[in-house]
Amino acid sequence: MSDISNSKAHIIVIGNEKGGTGKSTLALHLAVKLMLENFKIAVIDLDGRQGSLSKYIANRRKFCNKNTINLPTPVHYVFEPLPDESNRQEVEKLIKELSTKFDAVIIDTPGSKNYLFELAHQYPHTLITPIGDSLVDLAAIADFDTDTGEITHAGHYAEFVWDTKKKLAAKGLPYLNWVVCGNKISPIRSNNKNIVFAKLENLAKLYGFRFTPGLKDRVIYKELFLDGLTVLDLAREELRRRMTISHLAAKMELNNLAEFIFP
Ligand SMILES: Nc1ncnc2c1ncn2[C@@H]1O[C@H](COP(=O)(O)OP(=O)(O)OP(=O)(O)O)[C@@H](O)[C@H]1O
Ligand SMILES: [Mg+2]
Repeated sequence: MSDISNSKAHIIVIGNEKGGTGKSTLALHLAVKLMLENFKIAVIDLDGRQGSLSKYIANRRKFCNKNTINLPTPVHYVFEPLPDESNRQEVEKLIKELSTKFDAVIIDTPGSKNYLFELAHQYPHTLITPIGDSLVDLAAIADFDTDTGEITHAGHYAEFVWDTKKKLAAKGLPYLNWVVCGNKISPIRSNNKNIVFAKLENLAKLYGFRFTPGLKDRVIYKELFLDGLTVLDLAREELRRRMTISHLAAKMELNNLAEFIFP
């Protein structure tokens, strides 16, 4: 495991061994949020084969050029997994370098395990795991007996994070700030949602994470991708966009989430 204990940057990894939970969306939103607070931010897309975060940032740059406006946009790097893993050292070197130059480095990871996913999890001070409000999503954290509702065993991602924590502790690194946050949460009341949230509250104590319901399912996130915008940009004068109640609520949720992650 590489040593970045002397680095000044806070390393934030966004991870979940489940695809499509909103990792890349959250990566850019958090980057913009921290930049608006005047922090110097770099992001690394370790899911370069899919490249959602990289496309999101490219769309943002294009939108800024086209409209001659300046929006906070993080310094950005992208890597994709190679059959011979030959970019491993390059990634490690980059993380160390960025750690000395930026206030925070945000690393987006793929939705399934590969060597870049594992490498990213060697570094976090903060690990953020977005999760949907379905029992299917919950399986990454724990499996349940469908009759009794009891936990049968730890989910594959929770086990992986447990191992990660032991390795970080063995290196004398600070306790991992692991946050599991709901994303794409159904805005309507539902029994299913209540069950998932109650289970996550219990699992939080067992596996050592903090849980927050996070962000609701809002169509605005899908729309904003095309222009590379975030819910935090919408109120800007130069965009001349009318804020709806849903936009305001989305912005508030994002700000609350950031406060929860960094209390
Ligand atoms: N809160 C939300 N409400 C509605 N749609 C959302 C929300 N968050 C993300 N999305 C949408 O969900 C889709 C998947 O999001 P995203 O690509 O960020 O997930 P991911 O976890 O990075 O996926 P992958 O595992 O494939 O990398 C995108 O279309 C995105 O716009
Ligand atoms: Mg992604």
